[in-house]
Amino acid sequence: MAEVTKRINQMEPWIGEEEKRAMMEYLDSGGWLTEFRKTREFEKLIADYAGSRYASVVNNGTISLVIALMALDIGNGTEVIVPDFTMIASANAVVLVGAKPVLVDIDPSNLCLDLEKAEAAIIPQTKAIMYVSINGRSHDMNKVIALADKYHLHLLEDAAQSLGSRYQGKHLGTFGEIGSFSFSFPKIITTGQGGALATDNEELFRKISLIKDFGRPPSGVDYHEIIGLNSKFTDLQAVIGVEQMKKLDWRAKRKKQIYQLYHDLLQNTQQIRFIDTNLEDCSPWFIDIVVDGEGTREALAKFLDERGIGTRPFYPAIHTQPPYSHISGDFENSENISQKGLWLPSASFLSDQDIERTCVEIKRFFGATK
Ligand SMILES: Cc1ncc(COP(=O)(O)O)c(C=O)c1O
Repeated sequence: MAEVTKRINQMEPWIGEEEKRAMMEYLDSGGWLTEFRKTREFEKLIADYAGSRYASVVNNGTISLVIALMALDIGNGTEVIVPDFTMIASANAVVLVGAKPVLVDIDPSNLCLDLEKAEAAIIPQTKAIMYVSINGRSHDMNKVIALADKYHLHLLEDAAQSLGSRYQGKHLGTFGEIGSFSFSFPKIITTGQGGALATDNEELFRKISLIKDFGRPPSGVDYHEIIGLNSKFTDLQAVIGVEQMKKLDWRAKRKKQIYQLYHDLLQNTQQIRFIDTNLEDCSPWFIDIVVDGEGTREALAKFLDERGIGTRPFYPAIHTQPPYSHISGDFENSENISQKGLWLPSASFLSDQDIERTCVEIKRFFGATK
């Protein structure tokens, strides 16, 4: 076999010849290095791709959530509904702005926030719902919007895992007031680190722009309207981002093919399950399976690891992590999925043969002969 890379977070080949050439051209042109024209070009590509009026790129998909919450005036004394199964940055961002994350169980059908349980958790202090479209999946987004509207809550979408994924043709991250994306190393496109905020709201965009530049308006004059951060991007990264955007459609398509191939090859393997995935809309960032049976996931991961195939267990449920362990509640589904979920090799550069071999080994683990 070529290589099924050792680790599940096997990265996209983010520095290809195109990125290297673009970087050399940029440096030869006496490039500005920090955020300038290339950054604007990258932002326009993201906004056009996602279908939002504005996009603002920042250092990463954690700080983009912090900035989004700040722009929505969410802080001390307020609560934000966050799913208990997500990457920890979703909850951390809420804590970092001084608000309280209210962890809510997930819906096992799509691994996103359970909307009924979310509704039950809303109290007068609740100011926003952070909807995380895990692995490019979502509910009927009209229901999510309806829930936020019913209680006059802000809807912030953590779409860090959803670039290239849509609901009924509309890009995830563009249903709420602000959508947040991540371009960290293993994402479908990467700038090494990076994040973006997408919005249609001019006033929010203005606030985001202020916050990411010390609270200073674009004039460059040292007058500071509000408290801000320094979360400006760099043109060096934007050069790579612009090249990566040219590869996004191909990668999204390839992710769908890879998912379908795994699904076809493993559909008769009773011991594992797939999450319902509409490949019309969703291009799964990671191939996720659910492995039933006490300790079976760990044994399978070890078996594959010994054969040079990297996997990664799902994120732990947030409430099991030390900073959140004081939070109790009904987390049946997030606990269950965290203990049984496994990410398989998923990078778009994997060949069909890599996937086939991985599936052969999975079947062998479960005692199948072919
Ligand atoms: C759902 C989710 N939110 C936030 C983040 C944080 O993004 P970053 O790593 O760019 O800070 C991630 C990263 O994987 C994520 O998956």
